[in-house]
Formats: sequence, structure tokens, C-alpha cells
Amino acid sequence: MEMLRNRQERLSGAAISRILGISRSAIWKHINALRREGYLIEAKPASGYQLIAAPTHLTAWEIQAGLGTDQLGKKVHVFPDVDSSNTVAFRLAMNGASEGEVVVVESQHAGKGRMGRRWESPPGLNIYLSIILRPPFPPGKIPLITLMTAVACAEAIEEVTGLMPAIKWPNDLLIDDKKLGGILTEADMEMDRINFVIVGVGINVNMPRSAFPPSIRDTATSLQEASGKQVSLVPLIQALLRKFELWYTRFKKGRGEAIKRRWEELSQIRGKKVSVDFMGETVKGQALEIDADGALLVQEAGGKVKRIVAGDVHVRG
Ligand code: BTN
Repeated sequence: MEMLRNRQERLSGAAISRILGISRSAIWKHINALRREGYLIEAKPASGYQLIAAPTHLTAWEIQAGLGTDQLGKKVHVFPDVDSSNTVAFRLAMNGASEGEVVVVESQHAGKGRMGRRWESPPGLNIYLSIILRPPFPPGKIPLITLMTAVACAEAIEEVTGLMPAIKWPNDLLIDDKKLGGILTEADMEMDRINFVIVGVGINVNMPRSAFPPSIRDTATSLQEASGKQVSLVPLIQALLRKFELWYTRFKKGRGEAIKRRWEELSQIRGKKVSVDFMGETVKGQALEIDADGALLVQEAGGKVKRIVAGDVHVRG
């Protein structure tokens, strides 16, 4: 595919065959597979192949072309519309899908946010993806996977757009104090072992302000809103998968401390006055740090330190 992209002139079958070292019939098979994915490729017997139009929808081909990861995204499942990419990934994992398989979808009709909320997922504008992991850690380390994902997302966004989002515990990506994206981590586990983890990432990329429901219009944003430019989804997905693999490899090598440090650098929550809501209860105090398992430590006015594992954090100046 990459050979045909951005070329004004045709590329002959003989040339493709020479460069890729594959037969003419193998080329023909590839071309037909690409056409089935929506690529419009003109083939003229005398002069060769030319890409006339690429599909506007996402394809596994494009995501994998030049991806350069070792394991992450070696298998990418792309769907035009599902209930939730996390649910699809969960089902795939139940049926034996391997670590590193990724589900990317163009829209979700029941996108899931944290704490039972809904995640707005209109077609073609944003990133909705889920990564299947089979981590060799005890279940207590799962929150750290979420924090690690937030770090990977922030770094990928910076690499592709130049905008560096802030991270809000545990998993919100913010720009100008507005929500740009979030992470929903779900797991299938036993008392002392994880069977698999599904890490779901939603990033508002080209969503115009008008497409957000009125209830979140003032508190949500997208990369396009923040930068004034359209952002291509595929390079951002690729950067995200690369960053994720980098951090996950460090994590598996026991470098959880590095994740914690980077997360704290990007979240800048240390020392801030916060209130945390969880299940109708509010804890107020000063954010200290996150512990080795990714929980937030908050010191209340009386000096008592509370360990928070879930909830909504508000920074109070
Ligand atoms: C949050 O509430 O901040 C978490 C949002 C997570 C949304 C993503 S979109 C891809 C994946 N599939 C889902 O249903 N949810 C996550």
C-alpha cells in the first residue's frame, strides 16, 4: 500500500514484483484484498497500478503499515460500529485472543465511560480502541496499567500534534482543563491472578464542539478544537500503540517506579488541594503522591492519609 500512496504516476506490476520479491499473482491478490477494504486502485495492463482513492474508514492495513512495534498490534481487529470496543475485546480475549491484539472501531453505540457513564462515540471523528493484555502481575497492579496508559496517550498526542495534555488522576486527559480523553480498564481475574486486562482508550480527535451533547459541551474538548487543525487518526493510533508498548515493556521489566515518576510529572497533582468523590462520599485534603500500585494518597486536614483507589478528583486551587 505504502508504495502506491502519494504517487502521481503508475507503478508497474514488474516493478512491484522486483521491489517486494513476490509474484505477479501475489500482487494481484494483495490488490484485490485492498480493494475489498475500500481502496480504489486502477490497474492498466500496459502501465500498472495507481491508487485513486483511499477509504475514509479505518483499516488494519493502514494501522499496521510502518507501525514498528514488536507485539502490540500484530493483530488489529477493525469494526465500523460496535456496542463498545471494550466489550468486543473482552469477548475476543475470552475466546483466547493473545496479548497485544487490538480492537479499533469507528463508532460505538454503547461506548462505556468510567463509573457506568456513557462515552460519546460518533463515527469517523475520534479514536476508540481497546488493547488486550495478559500481564504477568497480581491484580493489585491493574491501576498502574491505567496510569501507564494515560502517560502513553499524553506522549503520543504530544508527538503527533505538539500539544501536551495534562493527566488527571486516575485517567483523564485534559487540555485547557477540559476533557480530551479517558481510559477504561476492565479485567477478568481470579483472587491472585489476572486472566486478561482490556485497556480501552477514547480520545476526542476531530470532534467539533457542536457534536458534543450540551451537557458536556463546556467541559469536553477535542484535538481539533484545541489546535484548530484536523488530526489524522491513523498516525495518532500508531504513535499511541508504540508508546504503549514502550511503557508496557518497561512495566514488565519491573520499572513501575519510572511510570509513577512520569505520571507525576505529567499530572502535577502533588501538593494540590483536592476533593475526591466516590460512591457518595467525599474526601478532601492535599494530594501527596501515588503509591506503588497507582492509588492516590490524600492527606486530610487532621493529618490522616487516605488511600484512594477510585473516584472523581477535583482540584480546588
Ligand atoms: C472515561 O470515562 O474517562 C473512560 C472513557 C473510555 C472510553 C473508551 S472508547 C474505547 C473503549 N470502549 C469503550 O466502551 N470505552 C473505552
